[in-house]
Amino acid sequence: MSGSNLTPTKIIPISPPTAAFKEIIGQSQSMKNIFRIVEKVAVSDTTVMLNGETGTGKGMIARAIHECSARRGKPFIQINCGSTPEGLLESEFFGYRRGAFTGAVADKPGKFEMAQGGTIFLDEIGDMSADLQIKVLRVLEEGEFERVGGHETIKSDARIIAATHRDLEEEVQKGRFREDLYYRLYVIPITLPSLRERRTDVPILVAHFLADFALKNRKPVMSVAPAALHQLVDYPWPGNVRELRNLIERIVVLKDGDCLLPEDLPPKMAQKMEPARMPSDAQPAGAEGLPFQTAVSEFEKTLILSALEKTHWVKNRAAELLQIKRTTLVEKIKRYSLEKPSKDK
Ligand SMILES: Nc1ncnc2c1ncn2[C@@H]1O[C@H](COP(=O)(O)OP(=O)(O)OP(=O)(O)O)[C@@H](O)[C@H]1O
Ligand SMILES: [Mg+2]
Repeated sequence: MSGSNLTPTKIIPISPPTAAFKEIIGQSQSMKNIFRIVEKVAVSDTTVMLNGETGTGKGMIARAIHECSARRGKPFIQINCGSTPEGLLESEFFGYRRGAFTGAVADKPGKFEMAQGGTIFLDEIGDMSADLQIKVLRVLEEGEFERVGGHETIKSDARIIAATHRDLEEEVQKGRFREDLYYRLYVIPITLPSLRERRTDVPILVAHFLADFALKNRKPVMSVAPAALHQLVDYPWPGNVRELRNLIERIVVLKDGDCLLPEDLPPKMAQKMEPARMPSDAQPAGAEGLPFQTAVSEFEKTLILSALEKTHWVKNRAAELLQIKRTTLVEKIKRYSLEKPSKDK
């Protein structure tokens, strides 16, 4: 097929394999590894621990694990241990009996009970108090708990997925997180890569969010000037995909033009973090920009060239490296008129 396979409509061949991943964009090797692990862990009931900086998609992956599992259709219950007030967490987790405390006018089930048959997602688990850590450890070890103020022991069969942006090992060393709970949780750790560790995903994420927000705001899909795409790829993204998503949403809502230009980006992105990644001839002399498809093609061309260089133009290996079919690679080499330099080492 003609056209770049880095655009939203062309990501099918290397996009995540199941519908549960539909919204999770990523074609980089590190994301493909994540998708593979997620599919494997989904079929078991094993506890999964998701690590990664803020905005890397831990919440999305937790839901995808649930949706890929036999528990789909059953509740997916999320609780944020960081934002729920400390005093409320225990009753939120385990529920309470009428009269357990002032205001407990009726029995109320907690999240663990609500998640029966399904999955409970303990977000920001590193923020839990020492007291609550003991109680959660008991659920993990014995699969049971009591409601606050209750005596009846309740069995829990909820699958547990936990997440944190903290370094839990360090928290253990500092005595802030129980070691036994740490080991109980780290049965299958999955670490989500930061966006700067998978910069090749930036163009498709930009394309995805541009299309998504254009649709939501009933606006035409904007193109991107290569120089702007260049800055987006080079920026270190401390807030990861969330930061990128919010930026694109802001631009789509506020901007009236049909091309995203470097001046639409925050000034902090103008500073080059790393040397240029795209061929300099991809940058137009004027400020009018190229259609996004062209900008992405330039990026793709650079990727293909670098893979060919790395593999000394052994196409099978370059195709493997790029995770595309050899025939696709050959077609692209032809389309971009790429030639082996006469003195290729
Ligand atoms: N791979 C991705 N594809 C598409 N959107 C993504 C991806 N990763 C993250 N997002 C977007 O970024 C936002 C943040 O993702 P999510 O809440 O899953 O991150 P998180 O790792 O849980 O962050 P935090 O630690 O701050 O809770 C989501 O709303 C989603 O829109
Ligand atoms: Mg989250």
